[in-house]
Amino acid sequence: MVTNAEELREQVRRRYAESARAVTEAGAGCGCGSGSCCDGETDAASFGEALYDAEQREQLPEAAALASLGCGNPTAVAELREGETVLDLGSGGGIDVILSAKRVGPTGTAYGLDMTDEMLALARQNAHEASVVNVHFLKGIMEQIPLPADSVDVVISNCVINLSVDKAAVLTEIARVLRPGGRVGVSDIVAEDRLAAQDRAERGSYVGCIAGALSKGEYVAGLEAAGFEKVSVEFTHEVADGMHGAIIKAVKTTEPGGKGLPVVQPGATAGCC
Ligand SMILES: C[S@@+](CC[C@H](N)C(=O)[O-])C[C@H]1O[C@@H](n2cnc3c(N)ncnc32)[C@H](O)[C@@H]1O
Repeated sequence: MVTNAEELREQVRRRYAESARAVTEAGAGCGCGSGSCCDGETDAASFGEALYDAEQREQLPEAAALASLGCGNPTAVAELREGETVLDLGSGGGIDVILSAKRVGPTGTAYGLDMTDEMLALARQNAHEASVVNVHFLKGIMEQIPLPADSVDVVISNCVINLSVDKAAVLTEIARVLRPGGRVGVSDIVAEDRLAAQDRAERGSYVGCIAGALSKGEYVAGLEAAGFEKVSVEFTHEVADGMHGAIIKAVKTTEPGGKGLPVVQPGATAGCC
């Protein structure tokens, strides 16, 4: 029985430590569709490496592709440019960090942030095998991103924000670390607005990326409250009744004190969700 946010976050951490160990020790995949990954309760084509095209998979060590637990392909939606700084929230086995590092080139930098030691070790090993050097894997939580304000051009994430115990803090932190005009391009599970929190919980577990999903309306409102404009949430594939893999895009306003832009300090949150 979950009693508080810390305990829930610890359940999430344990779940993904297990997934990382499965790849590292057995050389096996996450078992999408067999109940052992995010979300694991739906078919394999909805999650993991199947969402990357052959050209992208060729650029990756086998373990990085096998460790993929995402519900989309944020590197395909975020327009990454040479020389940019990219941050991947909940970077897991490092698949999107490695692909981003190649896209931004040697003059750019790709950061991966994850709270799970086993995932960080796997990601570092995968980056080494992929021979990418413009990557840094940081240990921390996305509710308190360990990077300075205005230091990132693009934030990506793949099936992780739904796992946060404080989504408002995550969106506020994304706004803080992005430069004015910086972009968000993430994949996540998103519920139709008709589904109440209880309905979402009936469709899958929290650690399996279903029960904690925001609705489309909550995502839009949360991003706007955190100081984003040009917000869009586009469903891509249904993973359970009324629950979808989705692409979420937004741009941090360039106006100082612009519409909805809060004065943010690390750890402070915008009101949403
Ligand atoms: C579903 S997996 C996705 C991994 C990766 N993005 C991918 O596409 O394969 C979720 C990852 O997010 C990490 N994670 C979950 N909650 C987090 C949090 N609050 N802060 C940082 N990392 C978190 C987990 O440790 C895990 O590696």
